[in-house]
Amino acid sequence: MFDISAVRAQFPALSDAEGNNTLIYLDSAATTQKPQIVIDAIVDYYRNHNANVHRGSHSLTSSATGRFEQARQCVADFIGANSSKEIIWTRGATEALNLIAQSYARSTLQPGDEILVGEMEHHANIVPWQLVAEQTGAKVVKIPMTPECQLDLDAYEQQLSANTKIVAIAHITNVTGTRQPIETLIDKAHQLGAVVVIDGAQGIVHEPVDVQALNADFYVFSGHKLYAPTGIGVLYAKQPLLEAMPPWHGGGKMVDKVSFNGTTFAELPGKFEAGTPNIAGAIALATAIEWYQGFNQNDIETHIHGLQQAAYQGLSQLAEINIIGYQPNASLLSFTIDGVHHQDIATLLDQQHIAVRAGNHCAHPLMDALNIKGTVRVSFGLYNNLQDVEHLIQAVNKACDML
Ligand code: ALA
Repeated sequence: MFDISAVRAQFPALSDAEGNNTLIYLDSAATTQKPQIVIDAIVDYYRNHNANVHRGSHSLTSSATGRFEQARQCVADFIGANSSKEIIWTRGATEALNLIAQSYARSTLQPGDEILVGEMEHHANIVPWQLVAEQTGAKVVKIPMTPECQLDLDAYEQQLSANTKIVAIAHITNVTGTRQPIETLIDKAHQLGAVVVIDGAQGIVHEPVDVQALNADFYVFSGHKLYAPTGIGVLYAKQPLLEAMPPWHGGGKMVDKVSFNGTTFAELPGKFEAGTPNIAGAIALATAIEWYQGFNQNDIETHIHGLQQAAYQGLSQLAEINIIGYQPNASLLSFTIDGVHHQDIATLLDQQHIAVRAGNHCAHPLMDALNIKGTVRVSFGLYNNLQDVEHLIQAVNKACDML
């Protein structure tokens, strides 16, 4: 097991200058706190290496470009991509999904084609498909969930057909932490010639990912849930798919030759990276990945699952509580309390410096299926400890007494 005190000491947001715990942060599924090494990487870039990349002819730009491209290679190695050309920088998972929709899907879908999308998905993995369906005449088809908040595999198998062109699904869902059977979903979709888009925003943090072993066509994630800054994310796609896809945004760097008679486009990955990218973000993401790889991932997950289990056991003692779609061995827990609005619980917890998320979690269809308006969600990072869980349970008990 790793040394939790030493881990916590690396996160300045969790304590004050004297080292006293000042924040119980249970919202890591929304965004993680950042370790000092990641904060330092951002400062170091702007202080010592700041220059635009792939442009200019001075040594500072060469150094920035080198760091930026090393970061891309780091991501490629982290997820087992065949080549760094398969790694496209985006602002986050949301932008990556929109890129796939507006480039791959918009250029390939025909009227009557179907995009299968899970009912438990985050809006970022629903709305881009609705937009492109509107543009192409294709149809978005919901893959239903079971009452236990699992994807309904039997329904999926029945829905798959020659019309299915795209299957879009989260690796791990953001409201209940359901680990979806992505290996099976990919295999079955491929048997019918459909491509599969995996939203790895939650999954990349909690499982080693090997995109080649998975045989994923597209895998996207954000840096900020992986202890890296906001505003940087990754689109992975198999190289032949990226080669065939038209550019999405136009601008500098994504071109080969521009003329008023027509423009030719850059090789991968530049074709999809118009304009000055988030250079500091990419470099800091690589720092976060290297830092994260310094831990044994099994140790991290054992620790996090232990916290989730302790929270589950403690909160389940409350008569008024409903745990929503409980998943053993997950990193988060969603709940409601009879007769009390989820936002009121979150506000009372906040007054005790306990940060949780309350609301629909950008998952209206999941809320509708369960006939609820929202939940309180507690989600754990590798810096949380059992004391955090104890404080949470006491605070929820107190909130129930008050409300
Ligand atoms: N998608 C993030 C969450 O679930 C923001 O909180």
